[in-house]
Amino acid sequence: MLKLAKALLEETEKFQSHDLKEIEQFRLKILGNKGELKKLFVAFKDVDVSEKKEFGAILNQLKKEALSKVNALKEAAQKQSHQENEHIDLTRPVNQDRLGSRHPISIIRNEIIEVFSRLGYQVSEGPDIEDDWHNFTALNFPPEHPARDMQDTFFVGKNPDIALRTHTSSVQVRVMENNDPPIRTISPGRVYRNEAISARAHCFFHQIEGLYIDKGVSFADMKQTLLFFAKTVFGEHTKIRLRPSYFPFTEPSAEMDVSCSICSGDGCNVCKYTGYLEIMGCGMVDPNVLENCGIDSKTYSGFAFGMGIERIAQLKYNVNDLRLYSENDINFLDQFRAEF
Ligand code: DAH
Repeated sequence: MLKLAKALLEETEKFQSHDLKEIEQFRLKILGNKGELKKLFVAFKDVDVSEKKEFGAILNQLKKEALSKVNALKEAAQKQSHQENEHIDLTRPVNQDRLGSRHPISIIRNEIIEVFSRLGYQVSEGPDIEDDWHNFTALNFPPEHPARDMQDTFFVGKNPDIALRTHTSSVQVRVMENNDPPIRTISPGRVYRNEAISARAHCFFHQIEGLYIDKGVSFADMKQTLLFFAKTVFGEHTKIRLRPSYFPFTEPSAEMDVSCSICSGDGCNVCKYTGYLEIMGCGMVDPNVLENCGIDSKTYSGFAFGMGIERIAQLKYNVNDLRLYSENDINFLDQFRAEF
């Protein structure tokens, strides 16, 4: 018996194989339920007392040796077969990650920011949820002004003082309250109005507000600034036109049109054969607004303007349905891939 055990130990030490099947056969032979080791342990009981010590030691050694041998060989064999299976095809085309593209509203917003930052304007932001003061009262809206109606404004809860801002002009107020002139700032952001969603109206959209306050700022400064903006965004040949208008927070107020970028002013169905497209509201900041925000209207004057980003994007990209901007249709968004 002792001899057999020694022979098995020697066999185990010598055993080598890369073949998983062969290794498993060997394992069964030595360590299996009906294997040699089992039999030897059974025989151990009947071994003469004088041999027990040596025999026991050999059995334990055999068990240990066989286990570690089988594990080591199996691991090596698995590694090898894995490497053999890994077939590398160097001619295979690369799996390209599908990168997203920038949203057209972001592209236009960034472009507008870029134009005004060249003129020294800084970007400022305000909260989407506003109070009545910043959205209306400080901007000289009389208490009975129709824009305060439930139809236009989304109120937050039952509090008539808290609403989703209806325009980014609210940021003007915050900037003037917290800064001394000279002020040159633009404020991009999302605005909300209680409108039925259609191709031409949405319950939320994006605006950029501009504000310039300093000593001696005139309407001519505004005109020149906005002309520079129009030429940079719509092309050097672009003309602008200012039409008298009304906003509570500016006096005088105007609406600015640019010559139609589609027909270059000749008349087409986009400009409804007028040759011009309306793109923004603007005007000299009403002295009441300056005073409401703690700025001395006898020392300082300034102009403000506000435009819809969707409107600019619509004209630049010829998009005729506002809903496309928020529907996340990948086919629509993919078209702007080349733009950044
Ligand atoms: N807040 C106006 C609107 O939402 C746009 C506007 C008009 C902003 C004239 C101005 C401005 O700053 O001077 O329709």
